[in-house]
Amino acid sequence: MARVGVIGGAGYVGLVTGVGLAALGHKTVSMDLDQARLAQLRNGKSAVYEEGLEPLLAQLIKDDWISFTDSQSEAVEDADAVFIAVGTPSLDSGAADLSAVIAVAEQLREQIKNYTVIVVKSTVPVGTLDVITEILSRDLEEGDDFDVVSNPEFLREGSGLIDFFAPSRVIVGTHSERARKILRDIYKPLLEQRTAVETDFVDSSRQIPYLETDAVSAQLTKYAANAYLATRISYINEIAGLSEKIGGNIGDIIEGLGLDPRIGPGYLQPGIGFGGPCLDKDLRALITVAGENSYDPVLFNGVLQRNELQLREVMKKITDAIGPSLYQKRIALLGLAFKEGTNDVRHSLSIRLYRALRDQGASVIGHDVLAADDARKLEPELKASGDLRTVIDDTDAIVVLNDEPTYRDLDLTIASDSSNKPFVLDTRGVLDIRKLESKGIVVEVVGKAK
Ligand code: UDX
Repeated sequence: MARVGVIGGAGYVGLVTGVGLAALGHKTVSMDLDQARLAQLRNGKSAVYEEGLEPLLAQLIKDDWISFTDSQSEAVEDADAVFIAVGTPSLDSGAADLSAVIAVAEQLREQIKNYTVIVVKSTVPVGTLDVITEILSRDLEEGDDFDVVSNPEFLREGSGLIDFFAPSRVIVGTHSERARKILRDIYKPLLEQRTAVETDFVDSSRQIPYLETDAVSAQLTKYAANAYLATRISYINEIAGLSEKIGGNIGDIIEGLGLDPRIGPGYLQPGIGFGGPCLDKDLRALITVAGENSYDPVLFNGVLQRNELQLREVMKKITDAIGPSLYQKRIALLGLAFKEGTNDVRHSLSIRLYRALRDQGASVIGHDVLAADDARKLEPELKASGDLRTVIDDTDAIVVLNDEPTYRDLDLTIASDSSNKPFVLDTRGVLDIRKLESKGIVVEVVGKAK
């Protein structure tokens, strides 16, 4: 058993990391500055929706594996390792804002008393670990008092705990053998699929690859992974656009592509583009780092550009179908979070679409199973509900923006006797078009010729 501290423990990555480490049988102290979230967490409640999180959290609090505090020194005291999971938002320039990481490091310098491994979970630009080392080295000795390690997370929002317990790989980046040993001990129960409390997340049939490398390579692997996922999405969106123009059917094309084992079927769903807290931010950070190093990232610029264009494509399809004026047109947006299975609306392209439609005078109503409340909080003028039938009632257009399973039966939700025949735009190719068309409804699918 190790003692670990998590800084930024109420944020998304910090919460999943803290809960995961505690469940592996490490005494975990999670620190955050957000008092409201801390109060909720101490009661076993989480502001972010994460499958299976709350029951596990409640159990870990009860058994005293995890505690929450607003004091960083409490999280650092006696810790073998301190995981930094604070936010690194994008600045307008595209560079990552490191002020939170720097503030944490400045305090750590005062707080570290015995050798402590500082594990950087936040996705920070390559070079940040040197900055942390430099800050700590003003009063402490690298190797004797501390080592800084990169241990990137590959957690998808909504399925973070699944990804924590069954990661495709664990990557630890440092040259320090002393730090490597501590990290190996911390991850040992995960590799052996042993937990201190009972959970459904462990899958003992899997062997988890554990990679040790240097810090730069570990960090770049994380950026490379997200840039690759983003590239696949922009790639398929571009193929979808071309397919529409020359008479193809994107569903069949995806199937044909995915069957090539060198390509595989994942991350090939066209749509409104990639949203979320990571893909866009990390791609921009990578472009910035390339620029700083006099390297021209032509591919990544194109990936980002396609993503920006995709929203305009969706907007154009709506205007072509029910415009040109959208004034007082009733438009239902199905899927407000940046993807299904999460309540995160902060980096959602659906919200950007809402703003663009609203600015054209449209009357927009949104639906989301998990995110309707969060969407209203973010956009107080947006009418949003979790009741699909009322949302789609009496609309001029319905736009399906994510893969939420209930949307697949839209044909059943649209009342057969209704005289209202909205234009339906399916950005994700999830609807049963034939059934909808048999009700006299015009359906357009992104990537499918009309
Ligand atoms: C991503 C990475 O998957 C994860 O490994 C990393 O640690 C954090 O960033 P996340 O941002 O939670 O995770 O979302 P993800 O499930 O990857 O989806 C990102 C966006 O791409 C969403 O807007 C989603 O709708 C979109 N997407 C995904 C597509 O448009 N098509 C696809 O085929 C897949």
